[in-house]
Amino acid sequence: MKKIFITGASRGLGLEFSKQYLERGDTVIASCRNPEKAEALKDLKSIFPDNLTIVQLDVVDEQSRNDVFTNIEKEFDAIDILINNAGIISGNESESSVLGEIYKEDFRKVFSVNTIAPLLMSEKLLPLLEKSSNAKIVNISSQNGSIALRSVGGKYSYAASKAALNMVTKVLSNDLKDKGIITLAIHPGWIKTDMGGSNAPLEIEEPISQIISLTDKSSLNESGKFLDREGKEVPW
Ligand SMILES: NC(=O)c1ccc[n+]([C@@H]2O[C@H](COP(=O)([O-])OP(=O)(O)OC[C@H]3O[C@@H](n4cnc5c(N)ncnc54)[C@H](OP(=O)(O)O)[C@@H]3O)[C@@H](O)[C@H]2O)c1
Repeated sequence: MKKIFITGASRGLGLEFSKQYLERGDTVIASCRNPEKAEALKDLKSIFPDNLTIVQLDVVDEQSRNDVFTNIEKEFDAIDILINNAGIISGNESESSVLGEIYKEDFRKVFSVNTIAPLLMSEKLLPLLEKSSNAKIVNISSQNGSIALRSVGGKYSYAASKAALNMVTKVLSNDLKDKGIITLAIHPGWIKTDMGGSNAPLEIEEPISQIISLTDKSSLNESGKFLDREGKEVPW
């Protein structure tokens, strides 16, 4: 039975990760900004009262990151898998990141959540990850972060934040190799969620199940790589 810490678990991919890990008997620490309003997570808690812990966490808030560590350290001796899933597509109400309408606040917010927070969460939870015999950090990236595959304009902040997250993943893998901790950047596919929208071709269940299985199988040979949900390398 593994212990999994998930960011952004209130909805979308994070909620589905929580559900699938719980269904197979793992222990999940599901973090979200507003636990009182996270109705779907509360429903999961009523089904899995012993294996699900819901904690408040805003990944960009240092106090919140510190509090979450202090609280879970009392209850959990180790974390086996950290899933840095929380993400935003834009820091701009209009969701615009197009040439002619670029504003720096959008970049600052998107990088804070998508790039800097996964690194800071990994750093914060490292003492608990180090206590696992087979720890893994999964950074939920995006094909939008692939420079090689980029063929359209727009989405400057989101695309750049995921390209930078890929670099963070690679650098972390170098730093954590000697500790045996595996880090992965995974493109989940285009999935129907609030972010993915209703035109997305993928329903949520299968890609998440594939990522869980890929994470299980991953070894230090894959650490630092940018993979799709089937385990194929995505060009940088
Ligand atoms: N859906 C896709 O097609 C797709 C494709 C490629 C990559 N991804 C990536 O997959 C991840 C999840 O996406 P999704 O589709 O599930 O998005 P989503 O439905 O918009 O959900 C985003 C989640 O992130 C949380 N979040 C945002 N800012 C946060 C913060 N500061 N602190 C803590 N949690 C925060 C949200 O919490 P609240 O409920 O509090 O807002 C929500 O739980 C993201 O990293 C995204 O970039 C998604």
